[in-house]
Amino acid sequence: MSELNKIALKILSNGKGILAADESNGTMTKRLDSVNVPSTSENRLLFRETLFSSEGMKNYIGGVILYDETINQTSNLQKTIPELISISGAVPGIKVDTGAKILAGSPEEKITEGLDGLRERLQGYYKLGARFTKWRGVYNISNKYPSTLSIQSNAHALARYSALVQECGMVPIVEPEVLMDGDHSAEVCFDKTSEVIRRCFEELAIHKIDLSGIILKPNMILAGTESNKKISSEEVARLTLKCLKKNVPFEVPGIAFLSGGQTEIEATKNLNLINKHNDTNFIMTYSYGRALQKSALKFWSKNIKDTNGTQKIFNHRANMCTLAAQGKWSAELEAK
Ligand code: G3H
Repeated sequence: MSELNKIALKILSNGKGILAADESNGTMTKRLDSVNVPSTSENRLLFRETLFSSEGMKNYIGGVILYDETINQTSNLQKTIPELISISGAVPGIKVDTGAKILAGSPEEKITEGLDGLRERLQGYYKLGARFTKWRGVYNISNKYPSTLSIQSNAHALARYSALVQECGMVPIVEPEVLMDGDHSAEVCFDKTSEVIRRCFEELAIHKIDLSGIILKPNMILAGTESNKKISSEEVARLTLKCLKKNVPFEVPGIAFLSGGQTEIEATKNLNLINKHNDTNFIMTYSYGRALQKSALKFWSKNIKDTNGTQKIFNHRANMCTLAAQGKWSAELEAK
């Protein structure tokens, strides 16, 4: 078993999942604005360290994705943030892309940037304690999109990123996110997601990536948010499994879904059904941002000093997601 494979399994095994706390300062400011909390670096740290020092971290979270600001911060508990995460038994990770920018040649689409100087930045993050990384390619669906240009160029960037990350001894999360926005059907999401993932693995092969040392972070197969043809959670699970079985090489140890704007309950219920029907060897777990933090953030914003209260809400959410990662969740457990 390679070192990279060991790290991936440490993050994903036993129903554990990933806390995606890697919102850029811009995105975090939007989240904090929505609950009327000023987006200062102190407040961003306070919310995050409240989660990182919770009991839920020890029991349910195998890895935390950080943003550059956070990985460099020292917690009010006198530990660096990577130390605080490691003490809980989870692996510190870092978002290393520098964001999705307008794609020259197809200006309604995006290309993710951040390859320049990446090798040196990775070495710095490794020294700070990071052992895995994230890069997100983003694709929108419409009649014309995603274009071949967007599919090819984002796959190429994801593969170049993965090669540099593995060279540096870390596990790359490969995140091709096909967005939920739009009125497309689940079948269209299935087709486009399949094409995107297939192309990513073609590029990863060209770049000689050790597939046993990556984590795939895909979207689930859903109808668009504006679609009038919504599908059941059973159908989401069926199509998602079908897509992944067809397009993900067997060497990949695990798949950690993004929540992508689903509610906390939707993201939990869908993951649970995926696991109930999972007839693959892939670990299927979560790498949620909003679907792990939304309720905790709402409570915290009104009770900033109530660390225990905020942690209780986070612990519950992480517990529910971990049960879902084992196919053991039920709606009744939400009320307990
Ligand atoms: O890249 C996306 C985040 O890591 C996951 O966030 O679960 O809110 O979509 P989300």
